[in-house]
Amino acid sequence: QPVFLKDYTPFGFLVDQVELNFHLQPTATRVRAKIAFRPNPAARDRRFFLHGEDLTLISAAIDGSPVTPEITPEGLSCPVPEAPFVWEAEVEIAPAENTALEGLYMSNGMYCTQCEAEGFRKITFYPDRPDVMAPFRVRVDCDLPVLLSNGNPVAQGAGWAEWNDPWPKPSYLFALVAGELVATSDRFTTSEGREVALNVWVRPADQGKADYALDSLIRSMKWDEEVYGRAYDLDVFNIVAVDDFNMGAMENKGLNVFNSRYVLASPETATDRDYENIERIIAHEYFHNWTGDRITCRDWFQLSLKEGLTVFRDSQFSADMRSAAVKRIEDVMTLRARQFREDNGPLAHPVRPESYTEINNFYTATVYEKGAEVIGMLRRLVGPEGYARALDLYFARHDGQACTIEDWLQVFEEATGRDLTQFKRWYSQAGTPRVKVTEDFRDGTYTLHLEQKTPPTPGQDEKQPQVIPLAVGLLSSNGDEVLPTTVIELTEARQDAVFEGLAAKPVPSLLRGFSAPVILERDSAPEERAFLLAHDTDPFNKWEAGRSLAREVLIAMVTEEAAPAPAWLDALAAVARDEALDPAFRALALRLPGEDELAEALAERGTVPDPLAIHAARERAKTAVARHLDPLWAGLYAQMDCPGPYSPGAADAGRRALRLAALGYMARLDGGARAQAHFAAADNMTDEIGALSVLLETGGADEALDRFARRWGHDRLVMDKWFGLQATLAAPERAVAVTRALTEHPEFTWKNPNRFRAVIGGFSANAAGFHDASGAGYDLVADWLIRLDAVNPQTAARMSTAFETWARYDAGRREKAQAALERIAAREGLSRDMGEMVDRLLAAG
Ligand code: ARG
Ligand code: ZN
Repeated sequence: QPVFLKDYTPFGFLVDQVELNFHLQPTATRVRAKIAFRPNPAARDRRFFLHGEDLTLISAAIDGSPVTPEITPEGLSCPVPEAPFVWEAEVEIAPAENTALEGLYMSNGMYCTQCEAEGFRKITFYPDRPDVMAPFRVRVDCDLPVLLSNGNPVAQGAGWAEWNDPWPKPSYLFALVAGELVATSDRFTTSEGREVALNVWVRPADQGKADYALDSLIRSMKWDEEVYGRAYDLDVFNIVAVDDFNMGAMENKGLNVFNSRYVLASPETATDRDYENIERIIAHEYFHNWTGDRITCRDWFQLSLKEGLTVFRDSQFSADMRSAAVKRIEDVMTLRARQFREDNGPLAHPVRPESYTEINNFYTATVYEKGAEVIGMLRRLVGPEGYARALDLYFARHDGQACTIEDWLQVFEEATGRDLTQFKRWYSQAGTPRVKVTEDFRDGTYTLHLEQKTPPTPGQDEKQPQVIPLAVGLLSSNGDEVLPTTVIELTEARQDAVFEGLAAKPVPSLLRGFSAPVILERDSAPEERAFLLAHDTDPFNKWEAGRSLAREVLIAMVTEEAAPAPAWLDALAAVARDEALDPAFRALALRLPGEDELAEALAERGTVPDPLAIHAARERAKTAVARHLDPLWAGLYAQMDCPGPYSPGAADAGRRALRLAALGYMARLDGGARAQAHFAAADNMTDEIGALSVLLETGGADEALDRFARRWGHDRLVMDKWFGLQATLAAPERAVAVTRALTEHPEFTWKNPNRFRAVIGGFSANAAGFHDASGAGYDLVADWLIRLDAVNPQTAARMSTAFETWARYDAGRREKAQAALERIAAREGLSRDMGEMVDRLLAAG
């Protein structure tokens, strides 16, 4: 029973006020709700239906008189007066039995909530849809010491607390937390002069690990004031770290709830990557206060309105805090690894989907990351000033509203005078556009012939041309820039771009900064790529030249068993030793394209990828790089030392990344001796995990693994790394056995989403292991998905994306993957989440 965008109708009633009263008990929590409704003049349908799932109704009344509503598994309906009325209901729920981690649940003795998208209906009967906005007042009764909800604290005493959130909000932004928690606190004075109390709440055992999160919050608040003119609007801002959490974090008004892995950090337990993620996600959830909370979505089809925009904003923030070039490269790597893969397979859907069965299945890379790319293109097309004007108008006009993509595009049209009719296709057409480029040069005129084409995706056979901003620069053969970055607007299926008055044929640097989420198709000689790697002034394209060169070399190594091209090895050596380059950039350049990226690239060329051959070629390539650059490693390793106390900043993190890259290559020559020493001497988690990964990849990790487990057995987040790395880095022929053994480990607490993702997600990312020709990898994952689906559908369904690429492989593998999927599909009592995912995945066959 899918829901369709085109069927939207407003709710028949408006809510003026919500009052909630919680008596928290693990298996018998009582929730009393008092809700003031009035007829919605903008709606015609006056049927009174409130969502409600897994609730035991104790009593209900309208204007004080008891009523007996009609109840179904989805909710209740009831006759109501034609004038404003007050609805009261008391329900009972059992948070301790809530293993789905949606609604009100318990994690390590604390109560917490996750309501987005449709979890509030598991707390009380309510019009649980984002276009119904209301102020909330909440009272919590519970003997736990810290009792939190949205908004400002009103009053509290022993065993109770009252909160008031004056800003109208949809129910998905409701939150409640009760637990034994300790705060790391600070204050922030907003540009409007408001004094805000900031707290990051963690369990007592984690005290001392919240400083970086708090610091990131303060920097985010300042940044949003400076860059977007957005100030915070309550007297307190609370963040709570929760160990059992389905997603990364949640932007509940004034009370952000986080997966503890994106809050807790110390140099000993968190890697540079963890610090970076904490900074980014703290910012992301904070930025939602304006793009999500103050202005929310009319319905869940508009999800990218808040998520695409907020991801775009958090990436601007990270770029400002760290290296913009490195951030862009990493974002594109993730986009390709996750969103292009999604767009190219059975789960492809537009940034604004037109239908869904379970909305939780649409919190995807397409809605988030491609949605952010679409906003980046928009900004490039209208320029930074136009973008700023459009955003000011957006905030001024839509504050307090539940909006649509149309509202969003409308402010850009009005603020900039640009017609965005064609641009809007980015929201409705799925699939990654392919842009094919050929060129010619005659009499000083250089012409780029551009062609765009988007392949069919499920439910969309024909695509219209899109507006593609193609940032281009031209270089002369000695490396001078003869044309600085210029944006070509590709709007037709075929179009030429002409550059006149050139002395000689230039070398084009195309799609600079990855100016559009497209696949560029252009035949170019390895020498040209090596030239761009050496000379391009655009840092993204400099990296991209090396990356595409590496991809070509690796593909030749897979298909022709070729030796790695010397031109590539020389180019890599030049980058590695170029001290003018940021160490983080050099580290990125030394990383080879992943196995899945290579499989995708082969499939794109019509070759059925062989996961084992890809793995083997990549191993050979790494060893060749290790040998060819042998003279460099020891020097780099010594030079990139980071003396002094650990700092998570971009500069030191970049040095550590380059040093660990060198360590990884050295291990292929010295049998891992240096890596063993590095592991033993490590005084921070980045180095410890870095060395352990090297040992896992090159062999000889057993002792280090034991030591690591003895040292960190008490720390869940650190042990997630231990579990995850073993599954991800196991050699193909051992991967299934290693993973199975991990699932039999006493510490494999599979109901914890982080632990499940570490092992099963880690294994799924081990392409050659997961796609083992025997089908054992498919079966292992399918068994665990079935098991998890019975307790936590949301996380189980999300992990089913492991099967996203099954159709690209050979008949033997396809048959086995399909059988595994069919086995899941046939399960009795399969969740709606998993049912929808498996149906879509099977449609690829
Ligand atoms: N809005 C949250 C964020 O992006 C994610 C919540 C996801 N929830 C879900 N049920 N899928 O910051
Ligand atoms: Zn978000």
